[in-house]
This record gives sequence, C-alpha cells and structure tokens, in this order.
Amino acid sequence: MNTSTIRLKTSLQDSVLELLNKQIVMEAHSSFSYLSMSAWCYSHGLNGCGDFFKKQSGEERHHMLRIFDYVVDAGGHPLSPEVKSVERTFEGLRDILIKALDQEISITNSFNQITDHCHKVKDYQTAKFLHWFLEEQLEEEQQARRCIEIYDLIGTEDGGLYRIDKEIIKLKTEDLTQRVPRTL
Ligand SMILES: [Fe+2]
Ligand SMILES: [Fe+2]
Repeated sequence: MNTSTIRLKTSLQDSVLELLNKQIVMEAHSSFSYLSMSAWCYSHGLNGCGDFFKKQSGEERHHMLRIFDYVVDAGGHPLSPEVKSVERTFEGLRDILIKALDQEISITNSFNQITDHCHKVKDYQTAKFLHWFLEEQLEEEQQARRCIEIYDLIGTEDGGLYRIDKEIIKLKTEDLTQRVPRTL
C-alpha cells in the first residue's frame, strides 16, 4: 500500500500517530517489566507478589492493545513494539515496589504530554480517547503507592515479608476506587 492511500484512510496527524506508537512501546515495556518483577518474586518465594505483578503485566498488555485498536479504528498503522532493556535484577521487594511506582508516574507524565499535544494540534477525538488512561493512571499510582505503604507499615521483622506478600495480592481483589472507609 502506498503512502497516499494510507493518508487517505487516517484522520490521525503524523505527530499524534507517532506519540501513540511510542505509548504502545511504553505499555509493552511496562508489561514485560512487570513480568520480570513477577519472576523475581516467584523465585524468592513471594507468590502473592508474583501473582500481583503477573496480573499487572496482563493489564499493561491490555492498555497496549487498547491504543493499538484505537489507531486501527482511526485508520492509522500501529507498530508492533520492540521492547528493550527490561530490568531483571532487583535489590529486593521494596526496590521493585519503588520501581513500579516510578514506572507508573512516568506513564502518567507521558499521557499528560500526549493529551497536551492533542489539544495543541486540535485533535480532540484522541484527547477524549486518552481521558480513560488518565483516570486509569490515578488508580495505578494509588495502588503502587499503597504497596509501598503496606511494606513499610508491616516491616520485614518477624516474618513480615510473608504478611506483606499476602496483603499485596489482596489489592488485586479489592476495588480501590470504592474504598470508603480506608480500611485496606
Ligand atoms: Fe498502562
Ligand atoms: Fe500501569
């Protein structure tokens, strides 16, 4: 298919398409990064956290596909992402939890920047599509912060790591947006 045919099909501007394809890479990286964290947890006997991060990895893949589908629906060409430099060694569970939060914050920043760009180039349709992700990121960051709080509140003394592991997987079975009062 030649370029002019592709351009006839899509209403997406090149700059927006490029940013969406970069976000596809970011979500794919996030998915594999969480899978790596899951592997580390399983290999250290932390099966609750292993399950937690494996589920999280699946969610990131869904985010990636959501953007992929949007680009297709808009007549654009989504790129199958190349995922590089996934970290495989960690100092411990707390190191993983901090990295997970950092990852979510950088993804939030990225969505803010793409949304900002969409407003600048008057692509309100894509800006509206991105709104779901901005709301999702609030939840994702909240969950990542809660994991660190759980770790620090329980502490690692007297088998604490075992209890932390049990508490963190519970976050995947409870809806954080409905948590009033905050007894989690
Ligand atoms: Fe995501
Ligand atoms: Fe996420």
